[in-house]
Amino acid sequence: MESRQIFNEELLDKLLFSNLKVDPSISAFIKNRFEISISADSYSGLLEKLKEENVCATGFKAEYMVLEGDPTEYTERLKKLKDIGTIIEGKPDVQNPSIIYSICNTKDIWYFGVLIKRKTDWRKHINKPYSFSNSLCIHIAKTLASVSSKGDKTTKLLDACCGVGTVLLEACYSGLSIEGCDINLKSIKHTTQNLEHYKYTSTVHCMDVKDLTQQYDAAIIDLPYNLYSYSDDVITTNIIESTVKLASRIVIVSKSDIKAAITKSGLKIIDFCTVEKRGRSTFTRSIWVCEKEVQ
Ligand SMILES: C[S@@+](CC[C@H](N)C(=O)[O-])C[C@H]1O[C@@H](n2cnc3c(N)ncnc32)[C@H](O)[C@@H]1O
Repeated sequence: MESRQIFNEELLDKLLFSNLKVDPSISAFIKNRFEISISADSYSGLLEKLKEENVCATGFKAEYMVLEGDPTEYTERLKKLKDIGTIIEGKPDVQNPSIIYSICNTKDIWYFGVLIKRKTDWRKHINKPYSFSNSLCIHIAKTLASVSSKGDKTTKLLDACCGVGTVLLEACYSGLSIEGCDINLKSIKHTTQNLEHYKYTSTVHCMDVKDLTQQYDAAIIDLPYNLYSYSDDVITTNIIESTVKLASRIVIVSKSDIKAAITKSGLKIIDFCTVEKRGRSTFTRSIWVCEKEVQ
């Protein structure tokens, strides 16, 4: 779903070619962004083109990116790295590189470019001070932030039912602008303390989402599951209808089939998936990506 929503494409062979420059650190799944500057249908052809480019950098590192189906053996890969390291002008710094150049091979084409690796320390959020057994897991929370924003860091987001702020933490880490809202004072206190713990800043509103008046580009709703906070069809419909007034793109998480409530509120479902929740209580979450019907 993340691949479809950000890149408008399904992921094949764990590889996706795109003209979009997405920060890999916004995703729980994207490993690297590789900015291709040279390609050739032979390795010698790639080296020729690289020589012509006069690439020069201080503190660079060269890495061989092994893609699925690339048969190049380890010793051969090292040799190739030495080749490109010799062609690039400047002093290398393997320990603390300022830039990483990489080569790779897929479907008999050789590529050279700059490798941007994702940061991985977002997993620290597992140990946030406040959580509860039905909080979203950090992978889903991160994906809700990336899918609702489509990876665009200028998007203004709202988490309409933020609970302890699981999505807010992921959005803040990813450099997205997000506000939170929850009707429950204790939840808002826990969200605030979770944000403070990681030194993130975000505005949180302790109120019924129906009373919010600000406008956002996109919103996330993790609907009450009727476990810790009471819910029924009327509450679900009210939360969705209130959020529709605030944002035109809404990603909704539910425990039940809420198709009727979504369409009744004037939203069109543009994508859908399910995620299994394992642990003390096992259930399936549905994730609905919706956009306002254009009148
Ligand atoms: C499933 S929980 C959200 C959990 C959250 N995603 C997390 O991981 O911590 C649903 C939340 O919706 C809140 N809520 C229920 N009705 C609301 C309303 N009308 N406006 C805002 N929040 C509401 C509840 O207080 C509850 O914290």
